[in-house]
Amino acid sequence: MKLGILTATISECDFFPNIIELKNIGERNGHTVHLFRNGEFNLIVDSGKTELFYSGKSLDISSYDIILNRLSVREKSNAEYYIVNEFLKKGVPVVNSPESIMKARNKLFSLQIMSSLGINITRSAVIRRPEDIDNVLKHFSFPLIIKNIFGSLGSSTLLVYDIKQLISTIDWIWNVNRNEIFLIQDFIRSEDGKISDFRVFILGGEIIGAMKRTNSDKDFRANYTRGASVEKALLTEEEEKQCLLIADEFGLEIAGVDFIRTKEGPVFLEINSNPGLDGIRQATKTKNFDILEKIINRLNEIKRGL
Ligand SMILES: Nc1ncnc2c1ncn2[C@@H]1O[C@H](COP(=O)(O)OP(=O)(O)O)[C@@H](O)[C@H]1O
Ligand SMILES: [Mg+2]
Repeated sequence: MKLGILTATISECDFFPNIIELKNIGERNGHTVHLFRNGEFNLIVDSGKTELFYSGKSLDISSYDIILNRLSVREKSNAEYYIVNEFLKKGVPVVNSPESIMKARNKLFSLQIMSSLGINITRSAVIRRPEDIDNVLKHFSFPLIIKNIFGSLGSSTLLVYDIKQLISTIDWIWNVNRNEIFLIQDFIRSEDGKISDFRVFILGGEIIGAMKRTNSDKDFRANYTRGASVEKALLTEEEEKQCLLIADEFGLEIAGVDFIRTKEGPVFLEINSNPGLDGIRQATKTKNFDILEKIINRLNEIKRGL
């Protein structure tokens, strides 16, 4: 197959090592793999026609069999999807599809969807005025988590221990943007008494890897990019069932589902449409198993209509 990988890498930067590794693995398996830096595209939209250029040269879009979409959806905007649209217009399949990504982009919408699936989720409050803080405190108790509904890599997830921190944090958020919508959540404790969560990597409706992430002693967030340590994890049947149900509902071909294993069972945090590859690859790699190889094989299956 001829595979194109759209990355969020800007024109001045090198590709991430795992993206280069994807290309190498694809090529070793007899495929043609082209990596694209987001910042090197150039589009001309004209009446009745469009032309996409890459690195200054006109790009033969329809020569690609499939596109792996690793663009990040920045904040509230999907402006960068003009590139994806050009491939879709020419009938080239894009994985993940923009619809599924849009569905999973907003943490609040995702929680609403998971809630109606009957999934046990991180209970969350949304308020729009300071007067409602008192009501939140009737239903939740400290410590609390505050998070941006579009955050990723743990960058917009905060921990507050008392009312003073809560009020000043909310005050600061609304000072930056009075219309900001954010989540206030219980701080969920893991059954092992540590700060840990699970990341489940789903590909084509199948769980292909799962890891337990344990926070570093300098951070309460268990994101791999925040220094969490990772280890391969075994899931219970119930956890597996719920992860697959969630991924299926969002229509994501590639998904990362996060949950905390509590004494009362799994509590689901979120679904990621562009899950990181580093931590999960490290946690699950063996002599005969590489998550990157699985991704290449799955893309080839999709191309062959399987
Ligand atoms: N309600 C919560 N209770 C306990 N830990 C949480 C909670 N929400 C988030 N975390 C921790 O913070 C990390 C980042 O939060 P998350 O909602 O997954 O945002 P991001 O999209 O930035 O990864 C999680 O992996 C988890 O370790
Ligand atoms: Mg997360």
